[in-house]
Amino acid sequence: MANEIKAENQSKGDEYLLNLFLTEEGIANPAVWYKRLRDESPIFKSSSGAIFLSRYDDCRTIFRDNRLGKGDRDGPGGTALPREEDPEVKAYREEINANSGDSSPAMLFLDPPDHTRLRGLVSRAFTPKRVESMRESIKELTEDCLDNLADNGGGDAMEILGLLPVNVIGELVGVPRSDWEYFRPLVTAGVVSLEQAPSLEELKASTAAFMEMGEYFTQLFDERKAVPQDDLISALIAVEESGDRISEAEVVSTIILLFAAGMETTQNLIGNGLGALFAYPDQMTRLWNDGTLVESAVEEMLRWDSPVQIDGRTALEDAEIAGFDLPKGSLVVTLIGAANRDPLKFTEPDEFRVERNEGPPMSFASGIHYCLGANLARTEGQEMFAGLIRRFKNIEQAGELKQRGRMTLRGYETIPVNVTTR
Ligand code: HEM
Repeated sequence: MANEIKAENQSKGDEYLLNLFLTEEGIANPAVWYKRLRDESPIFKSSSGAIFLSRYDDCRTIFRDNRLGKGDRDGPGGTALPREEDPEVKAYREEINANSGDSSPAMLFLDPPDHTRLRGLVSRAFTPKRVESMRESIKELTEDCLDNLADNGGGDAMEILGLLPVNVIGELVGVPRSDWEYFRPLVTAGVVSLEQAPSLEELKASTAAFMEMGEYFTQLFDERKAVPQDDLISALIAVEESGDRISEAEVVSTIILLFAAGMETTQNLIGNGLGALFAYPDQMTRLWNDGTLVESAVEEMLRWDSPVQIDGRTALEDAEIAGFDLPKGSLVVTLIGAANRDPLKFTEPDEFRVERNEGPPMSFASGIHYCLGANLARTEGQEMFAGLIRRFKNIEQAGELKQRGRMTLRGYETIPVNVTTR
């Protein structure tokens, strides 16, 4: 039996969504709007037809519901907002989808059986052992970032410390060191296509960035096929050569996905974590006094200001969610940032506490698309904050923190800091 939603409630909920996604105020402080949605309509059907979820358990259930998946949309929530999409943007999205040509969608955008096959094959190369073997390199790469900060007595933490994730993925994949930094602006430009309301210019720049990365990795694929090395791209090529069903285009799209999924997100874990510590100086002191809290502190950073705030699924068949009709192709938007502040799951959820121990945040999603790089990201976050504590007596905010202004991948553009070495 389909649920009814009163028109006045719907227009109020729609207004919250537009405030949340499209105003500076909403982007600067989404928790305010998440709370209103969660308190008033935790399972909200917008006039756009999309359902928005803001509670922890509901998001988790949806991530694990096989009636929902990725469908044939290019990204979660592309048209979920209750407003007319700019016709030029809409036309461009359709054109891109129609002309995806020889490229092959990455696992993030696939449903079973293709998702199962690709994730299984990639997991054979991206093993816990390979990730663990990265720990020493992560330590070294973290030291390089910290040296840079120490030498300058501070600087922009996003620029300096935020370099770690792209370098880690570069090392893991097998990209020559001299090319690591080249990928940073490309990935930043590329991932804007995951946002709810990118401009036409941003979308065009995103396509161009992904095409450039595609060309680079096609060339690297050929080089490693001729002369394999001990790196992830060679391991994926070995899977391809063993006759398993992974194509060259799929190897290339997998590598691009690793950069797209693992760079900006982990940069934002580091930046949002620092931002949280600046907002709660008592928690910063606690952490600096007891380095054994690094693990729980990183979990809390992931929860309190999640690097991925928005995720979603598409109905693969006509379905009903909590009494709402959901025709095939409709969107369900999981507000991860809201789920992480759900008082039914976390006590006093708006408080940032480095010692909190109330189970994992929703930040890496759940179910079949659960983040493949979760352990790698956690390791990077832990090494970075352990390194900061070890090297610096203190780290202070040295100016205004500037948000990037993105919602799906939330993070800072700049974090000016001063450091005092021990
Ligand atoms: C703090 C950092 C990170 C966060 C918050 C994060 C978050 C997420 C989330 C929410 C998803 C699920 C997307 C969905 O449900 O559609 C995901 C998937 C994924 N992540 Fe991460 N991620 C992080 C770091 C990384 C890293 C370092 C890598 C690898 C280098 C990575 C690789 C992936 C891949 C390959 C998927 C797709 C998995 C699939 O579709 O089966 N992520 N991530």
